[in-house]
Amino acid sequence: MVTNNDLAKFIDTSDEWIRTRTGIEERRLADRSKGETTLTFAHQAAVKALEMAHLSGEQIDMIVMGTVTPDTVMPCTANQIQAKIGATRAFTFDLQAACSGFLYGYSIADQYIRTGTIERALVLGGETLSTVMNWQDRSTCVLFGDGAGGVVLQRTTSERSRVIATKLFSDGRLGEILSIPHGYGKVPPHVPEYRNDHHKVQMRGNELFKVAVRNMVDAASQVLWENQLKTTDVDFFIFHQANLRIIDMCAKSLDVPREKMWLNLQKYGNTSAATLPSCLDEAWRSGRVKKGDLILMVTFGGGLTWATTLVRL
Ligand code: UT7
Repeated sequence: MVTNNDLAKFIDTSDEWIRTRTGIEERRLADRSKGETTLTFAHQAAVKALEMAHLSGEQIDMIVMGTVTPDTVMPCTANQIQAKIGATRAFTFDLQAACSGFLYGYSIADQYIRTGTIERALVLGGETLSTVMNWQDRSTCVLFGDGAGGVVLQRTTSERSRVIATKLFSDGRLGEILSIPHGYGKVPPHVPEYRNDHHKVQMRGNELFKVAVRNMVDAASQVLWENQLKTTDVDFFIFHQANLRIIDMCAKSLDVPREKMWLNLQKYGNTSAATLPSCLDEAWRSGRVKKGDLILMVTFGGGLTWATTLVRL
């Protein structure tokens, strides 16, 4: 666990700045001396999700993992989780949609289940963004944290308890606002142009802030309108945990009171694809959300990508 004051010991920042501009107080980072990686966290999330669903690995038909920080590109993280949990019947893949990775995977799983192709999917989101942070860049490194979360989705005959809708969006024209430019196909590590400081997250925070608010509000409004629902019909909201000011602006536009949303960015920072499932897990375990509740989740991230879902638990 790394507090804002810990960061202030080696970069020009302060607890006051980080708290007031972002709402973040501390974050959890992978301890590489203990061998912790994205796989470590995602595996733990997978085990906990299976326990909660009273299922074993063999009962899972598909594993999808949203991550931009896989342990290895090949095999992908979902392949490695499959081996660890004994999901021998599953097909498995990672997907890259940055902070929207969890909801992108969730939507794909929902479609496979709706078409009758599969019965059950394990949907995960996890990152070790600490490995792609420039720890000298105070405008980015204070924002992010490491972690993972996940859910099991399964086919139901219930008219009530089900995924009501998922909506995915992207705008590739705005990709440079949040990127990791080097280290992959365009500038691989062995070419002379490769720069270690460009194999790190680069962000134009101000621009992203505005687009994030606009697009999350639009996405949430659309999914409600298309399903003939109003904000007041929704029992609980989970917004992507990037910045408390972004969440507050979205909540204000959508007229959502604080009591109807879960916040965990103060403890974990922005864990990208892990923010929504970790909030959902905490809200469920605390009893704040329960069976029958209508939940709206909405997220935003690199790509640019954004996504929303409406689910009745
Ligand atoms: O998950 C993907 C989605 N992520 C996001 O949507 C992130 C969106 N952006 C943001 O959350 C905010 O734009 C930031 C938190 C990144 C920045 O907040 P801001 O209020 O937009 O600050 P700013 O970039 O306008 O910077 C204001 C000042 C600057 O100093 P000057 O030029 O006014 O002297 C920065 O250099 O704050 C300075 N600054 C810092 N000062 C202390 C930037 N980072 C820090 C820092 N500590 N960590």
